Amino acid sequence: MITAAIVSLLAASLAAGQSLPSTAEVRPLLPTWKCSNSGGCVRQNTSVVLDWDMRSIHTTNGATSCKSGTKMDKSQCPDASTCAKNCVIEAADYASLGVSTSGNAVTLYHYVRTGGKLVNASPRIYLLGEDGKYVMMSLLNGEISVDVDLSTLPCGENGAFYLSEMVADGSKNPNQFNTGGAALGNGYCDAQCQGYCCNEMDILEANSQANAFTGHPCKGNTCDSGGCGYNPYAQGQKGFYGPGKTVDTSKVFTVVTQFQASGGRLTGISRKYIQNGRTINSGNINGCGNEGSTGGMTGMGQALGRGMVLAMSIWNDAAQNMAWLDAGNNGPCQSGQGSPSNIQSQHPDTHVVFSNIRWGDIGSTTKGN
Ligand SMILES: *[C@@H]1O[C@H](CO)[C@@H](O)[C@H](O)[C@H]1NC(C)=O
Repeated sequence: MITAAIVSLLAASLAAGQSLPSTAEVRPLLPTWKCSNSGGCVRQNTSVVLDWDMRSIHTTNGATSCKSGTKMDKSQCPDASTCAKNCVIEAADYASLGVSTSGNAVTLYHYVRTGGKLVNASPRIYLLGEDGKYVMMSLLNGEISVDVDLSTLPCGENGAFYLSEMVADGSKNPNQFNTGGAALGNGYCDAQCQGYCCNEMDILEANSQANAFTGHPCKGNTCDSGGCGYNPYAQGQKGFYGPGKTVDTSKVFTVVTQFQASGGRLTGISRKYIQNGRTINSGNINGCGNEGSTGGMTGMGQALGRGMVLAMSIWNDAAQNMAWLDAGNNGPCQSGQGSPSNIQSQHPDTHVVFSNIRWGDIGSTTKGN
């Protein structure tokens, strides 16, 4: 089965003086649905694009990297036009970087086997429209739903499904020259100020043992990096989420997240699950830190109203072993259990599957059409 779109960047890239991929990139298709209460759900011809930083960028006539850490090498790339002349971007091979799609499902593997060796991939992808720009989801007074399979994610692993306020064409990127825009996954930002600082709404950060949804508003470069989150275990619901629990993470379930508004202002972020035809209500966030310093609930709502980009990733956490998500007061995992080395040796095949992504008016995404 062919599930691929060829990126044709030539004309747009030449016009913008950008570096070109040395070969065309084959991007996996991932159909999604945009829904409304009046019109039902309409299939969108969307695809996924890997983050820009996962591609090799090297000299036009050689194999010298044009990157220096996460930025461009100043000697090859003192400015945009010189950089475009000196350097090319290699097209990404999605499968070898842990990303594949089938029908309306995308699977992300943390580790991939290359020549019998286990390699760290930890991919991050974004949802791209047919126009070569990121899909801007406006979810104020709306909802988004997704089916997830987290059954192979152990303590310490994080399957993430979230929104960042990137710009639609991927052109905002203060750390390096614009080399390919959204069609090559450029322009990432989040509330930890990776790339640059921007509003972030974590719809799902989860493994088979624990999960949370968290708002991270920003005002300029001041972000609520801790955020306002809801984790059922941390709220005392210890039998709610996990293998064999009320939300049974050994099987697929649907995650529905709603953004209620009143008078154009975000008033609540709420969560429910659907599994085996049963709707299971969960928590609600109705405040989000200091409105004056980070924008709070108001700022989060304004970003949702302007539109945000859907990002998906799988990662683990050498600094804290994801304890903020799943250990101590936050989940049933033991301290240190979720270290990357434990995961790599004991769960090398860990992967997350996101499917059946639908967004639109509140109540419109789960009617089964
Ligand atoms: C998706 O592509 C098909 C086939 O080219 C087209 O008929 C349809 O209108 C497209 N859908 C949207 C929402 O643009």
